[in-house]
Amino acid sequence: MNLKEVNIGEKLYSQGVKIRRDYLFDGIEKPEKYLNDPWEKRSIHVVVESEASVLGVGRLTYDEDGNGIVSQMVVKPEFRKRNIGFMILEHLIKLCVFKGSEKVYLSSRESAVGFYEKLGFNVIGAKFASPQTGIVHVSMVLSL
Ligand SMILES: CC(C)(COP(=O)(O)OP(=O)(O)OC[C@H]1O[C@@H](n2cnc3c(N)ncnc32)[C@H](O)[C@@H]1OP(=O)(O)O)[C@@H](O)C(=O)NCCC(=O)NCCS
Repeated sequence: MNLKEVNIGEKLYSQGVKIRRDYLFDGIEKPEKYLNDPWEKRSIHVVVESEASVLGVGRLTYDEDGNGIVSQMVVKPEFRKRNIGFMILEHLIKLCVFKGSEKVYLSSRESAVGFYEKLGFNVIGAKFASPQTGIVHVSMVLSL
């Protein structure tokens, strides 16, 4: 398994988008709106691949203060609980450390809160329904 940063237009990037579409926005009307949101072009895109097949993906965007925002992380269902999400998130956090970010923010699905907590994120604020999917999320932050 290899972790790679990929650029828009590359084959591995396109495979990652497909995984995001299939497992984050399945059944959502106009998924392109969320996949190709205003952050997409200014984000760092990371995949974990094996034999040129993408198994998991994550995205990092910096806000105007240089803090990190992690979004659209997903691992293909049959490859979950094999440390792939950990590899991706750890890399995104390291990028923030090198950048000098003070904090890393994300919105987690309620079901994934425990995963992010393992890497040191804390819940901040109340639960809210995602305007995109209606799925209940919570805001989380990691202080670096
Ligand atoms: C959340 C997700 C990205 C985690 O990826 P993963 O590759 O399965 O996670 P890992 O195997 O790297 O797990 C790392 C650790 O977190 C734990 N963990 C993984 N998913 C968890 C979850 N949903 N709740 C609690 N703990 C979890 C693992 O047990 C592991 O702990 P350990 O080191 O003590 O064994 C993956 O389950 C997923 O794609 N879920 C659906 C989409 C989703 O919810 N994405 C997040 C949107 S905000």
